[in-house]
Amino acid sequence: MKRRKIGILTGGGDAPGLNAVIRAVVKYAVGQLGWEVIGSEDAFNGFLDDPQRLRPMTLPSCQGLLHRGGTILGTTNHGDPFAFATRDGIRDRSAELAAAIRREGLEGLVVIGGDGTQRIAARLMREHGVPVVGVPKTIDNDIAATDFTFGFWSAVEVATEALDRLHTTAESHDRVMLLEVMGRTAGWIALYAGVAGGADCIALPELPYDPARFCDKILERRARGRLFTLIVVAEGAAPADPDEPRERGAAATLAAALARRVDVETRVTVLGHLQRGGGPIPIDRVLATRFGVKAVELIADDRWGEMVCLRGQDIDAVPLSQAAGPPREVDLAHPMIAAARAVGIELGAARGRRHVALG
Ligand code: F6P
Repeated sequence: MKRRKIGILTGGGDAPGLNAVIRAVVKYAVGQLGWEVIGSEDAFNGFLDDPQRLRPMTLPSCQGLLHRGGTILGTTNHGDPFAFATRDGIRDRSAELAAAIRREGLEGLVVIGGDGTQRIAARLMREHGVPVVGVPKTIDNDIAATDFTFGFWSAVEVATEALDRLHTTAESHDRVMLLEVMGRTAGWIALYAGVAGGADCIALPELPYDPARFCDKILERRARGRLFTLIVVAEGAAPADPDEPRERGAAATLAAALARRVDVETRVTVLGHLQRGGGPIPIDRVLATRFGVKAVELIADDRWGEMVCLRGQDIDAVPLSQAAGPPREVDLAHPMIAAARAVGIELGAARGRRHVALG
């Protein structure tokens, strides 16, 4: 029987756990099933570059990967084959890509990536008949069709540790400490890290805020003898009032808005890519491994065109088209919002806005 041969790549921003997925796919497909796996470097670019950057993914090449951050295959968020940036402008190189995949003798691809990458994968399958299985990835946890993505919990861990550290220095100096975390459109990291790190206020992209609500919280704490305040700000959070002055960065904007209203000493920490760097914590290693195994299972069953996902405790799969939908924002009816409010965390909802009941 002909030996099965598949490709694998990682696309979009990296996330702790990418290597753990690659390792699981290779261990299962190569080690157990005897397939061949070819890795494309820097997402789809490995197929398009001249010379091509493709590498056989052998068992030895995947040793020691489970705990390693980043991705050994490299990644990029500038490699859309349907709108490829060249010196002469934007070109559609998707047909060239499909031809390269066929020439390589690949049955199809395991595409590990966020919503943008999954959209490209779905299109590649639809328009060029390239079989694809998707594995969702993002620290932002905002991919529709999966309860959680690997990398998210590792990012929450980093943000929580940062809050723990800010907590002690905030208390020593009676300061208002603002921690800006990633999340342009979805505030999952801010919400979970805020709850885990005992934040007093959380600003989410989904809930335009009124700075006065956060000021009230600061003053209310002061009245109780708590002279410091910890605020987590998602990078996409913004004041509801369009006339509120904007600074460079979401946390800086809020810090300035507070200082205009109350007598506070503020400090801003922007966590940035520290949240994406480093190795995955155990729960992300486990999820990444289960995703990788499921991807191989789907291919073994010829279930191309699906993306693995987590539903509750179970690994499942959904049509790729579902995964390529709009980002999954924090639903303001989510139990975590209720839990945050129940422990007194101020979310800053502007009065008279559509989310006022939740503020
Ligand atoms: O999508 C993940 C993410 O971490 C966002 O939260 C953040 O805004 C973005 O990536 C940053 O991406 P880049 O690596 O391009 O700076």
